[in-house]
Amino acid sequence: MIFYFSGTGNSKHVAQKLGELLGSQVKNIADYYEEVTTLKNFSIGVDKDDCLGFVSPVHSWGLSKTMSRFLKRTKINYQGKKIFAVMVCGDNCGKAREMLSETLKRNSGIECNFICSIQMPNNYIVMKGFGTDSDELAKQKLTTAELEIPKIAEAVKSGKTFDRYVIGTHPFLKGRIIYPLFMKFTMGDKKFFADDNCISCGLCEKTCPEKNISLKNGKPKWLGHCVKCLACIHRCPKKSIQYGDVTQEMGRYYYKN
Ligand SMILES: Cc1cc2nc3c(=O)[nH]c(=O)nc-3n(C[C@H](O)[C@H](O)[C@H](O)COP(=O)(O)O)c2cc1C
Repeated sequence: MIFYFSGTGNSKHVAQKLGELLGSQVKNIADYYEEVTTLKNFSIGVDKDDCLGFVSPVHSWGLSKTMSRFLKRTKINYQGKKIFAVMVCGDNCGKAREMLSETLKRNSGIECNFICSIQMPNNYIVMKGFGTDSDELAKQKLTTAELEIPKIAEAVKSGKTFDRYVIGTHPFLKGRIIYPLFMKFTMGDKKFFADDNCISCGLCEKTCPEKNISLKNGKPKWLGHCVKCLACIHRCPKKSIQYGDVTQEMGRYYYKN
């Protein structure tokens, strides 16, 4: 079983491809939203002959909030040996690896020593100074990723590890100091709005994995529990969703087959 979370489709693609290559079922953890947010003792069993994998985007050099919450609130029962995780980043991952392994160990008693990273196109556009990659760089990342996914699958099958994890500079500062501040202070959704180009198609509501958008008079309304996956802003077909005055000139991205 491969559990994934994805805002703009990169991690979903990696998980699906690994699922095909490993003959394993792929599960979007957003589908467990109700259980994870309401139940005290939520547990999932995974067959010992299957593998146990996690695929998640890197957010602020750490784990995406949704994956972190899933691992904290779900007891995973697994007696098998094929355990792995893939951190899907734009550039580098800082402490995401440690956060995943520590949380999994603490809550489910599972040791995960195989955690690698894959670079895919950048989707962080809600802060000045950041933005999507050039078309050329995005294409290059996608081509390289396509070559690396089978290598990860091979390593999982043969019980080895795939030694590629791009940690980046100052991982402690970024992962242990900036990450908690980021999670505490930047998760708000008050700056999102739909401009006059909105056609009330409702795609933002449908794509939000956190059920944090509801249409009111045909326009999206953010409900206050955003995890900043940026699915809504990137998937809007009219580029009508904006974040304050930051995103008007920024590109948009989501994984297309
Ligand atoms: C809130 C947020 C924070 C991010 N932080 C990082 C980061 O620290 N390092 C990095 O390399 N990429 C970062 N990114 C980029 C994503 O990790 C990257 O684009 C990833 O491939 C997106 O995966 P997805 O399409 O499955 O959501 C961030 C993206 C978002 C939305």
